[in-house]
Amino acid sequence: MRILVTGGAGYIGSVVGKSLVEDGHRVVVIDNLQAGHREAVPKGAEFVLCDLADLQLLQNVTKRYAPEAVIHFAAEALVGESMKDPTKFFRDNVSNGVNLLDAMVTAGVNKIVFSSSAATYGEPKRIPIQEDDATVPTNPYGESKLAFEKILRWYREIHGIDYVALRYFNAAGAAGGLGEDHRPETHLIPIVLMAALGQFDSVTINGDDYDTPDGTCVRDYTHVLDLASAHILALQQTPSRVYNIGTGKGHSIKEVIAAAEEVTGKTIPVKIGDRRPGDPARLVADGARIQRELNWKPEYSELGVILETAWRWLLEHPDGYGPPGS
Ligand SMILES: NC(=O)c1ccc[n+]([C@@H]2O[C@H](COP(=O)([O-])OP(=O)(O)OC[C@H]3O[C@@H](n4cnc5c(N)ncnc54)[C@H](O)[C@@H]3O)[C@@H](O)[C@H]2O)c1
Repeated sequence: MRILVTGGAGYIGSVVGKSLVEDGHRVVVIDNLQAGHREAVPKGAEFVLCDLADLQLLQNVTKRYAPEAVIHFAAEALVGESMKDPTKFFRDNVSNGVNLLDAMVTAGVNKIVFSSSAATYGEPKRIPIQEDDATVPTNPYGESKLAFEKILRWYREIHGIDYVALRYFNAAGAAGGLGEDHRPETHLIPIVLMAALGQFDSVTINGDDYDTPDGTCVRDYTHVLDLASAHILALQQTPSRVYNIGTGKGHSIKEVIAAAEEVTGKTIPVKIGDRRPGDPARLVADGARIQRELNWKPEYSELGVILETAWRWLLEHPDGYGPPGS
């Protein structure tokens, strides 16, 4: 298939793009490199420097490459920042996403796989979370993802664009020379490993008085390679659908740190900080729908495998890819 990948110079998009190339698809990556890295663009994929805000360029690219499907990763994704600058999130994750859909309509592309998020649920009423559970986002980031899911429904109804929205929980791990390099890094696993390497003095645990077995927040981690296989299966799905992507297993922050100490052989200094507003105690996916309907099976999402692959990548890339754009 010819596939247009937005945000394919970013963490998840680069790994998924590489898997697509390896599976024989023709991949075109578009990215404005605001957070992505040219070096991360998978070999064998074409790269077009393009901001989704630029509707004219987007339409030219979409017409020129005539993709059969789009996978849409590009977004503002720093949850905390969304509480300070909601405009940035609604502009990039909603308005620019609508530009992409309009370019698809113009070029006659009728399939999209969208990177949604567990942040669409907000504070869950039950664990594990199912797709039909209430969606009450607690930050503009989650709201922007939910808004785009709703917009997708109308583009399907009115323009016949089929969609699959994949609600990721926590993506982690590295593969094929590609790893996680966000600036600033806000995700637990890279932070813990960077602390093990001495790049941070300590890891701050935001609250240790939650209603969880050890008092720290519990999250569901999925290896990026398992996310990649979910996207490849989603490309074959025709009825429009929303799927959780998670393992159904939660790990607390303290558990992650202990496992990281084991993998790295280093002691990781820890500080206890305040709770972050809007941080649910547990976010764990019920992944039964995608397992049943698309036969998706996570193969690399054991915590030890996630940590080992991410640690190896960090040892090989102690400075990551360099600043965004490099
Ligand atoms: N990382 C996670 O654990 C996680 C969890 C849930 C959802 N998601 C979603 O998955 C997607 C990918 O996440 P990631 O961690 O790889 O993020 P990332 O920041 O590494 O990648 C996003 C990419 O999109 C590009 N981009 C952003 N706005 C753009 C625009 N207007 N035009 C062109 N390119 C643009 C950035 O330069 C970057 O390369 C995002 O949509 C994110 O919201 C991620």
